[in-house]
Amino acid sequence: MTWLAVAGANQIAPGDFIQVDTGNAFLLVCNVNGELLAIEDQCTHDGSSMAGGCMEGDQIICPRHGARFCLRSGAALSPPAYDAVQTFPVRIHADNIEVDVPA
Ligand code: FES
Repeated sequence: MTWLAVAGANQIAPGDFIQVDTGNAFLLVCNVNGELLAIEDQCTHDGSSMAGGCMEGDQIICPRHGARFCLRSGAALSPPAYDAVQTFPVRIHADNIEVDVPA
């Protein structure tokens, strides 16, 4: 496991998210009513970043063609995406939000 500090513990408000560059990948770290979730920021439809999209509850909507993804499971919930995005464990540690990122 490689835990990477991505923000202060209170820096992502409920209903909001940030984009993180881990050096190997871009992630979105999201606050769903106080629950912190992280997914790979690469839409499985055509590879776009979803950082310009919007959250609705525990879903994120890709800004390019409107595919929805579940922030908990990564599952694609609507066309034109059919494959899931990767999800990553998130924790609060030493007053930071940390994500377990790929080595
Ligand atoms: S690139 Fe995301 S829906 Fe097409």
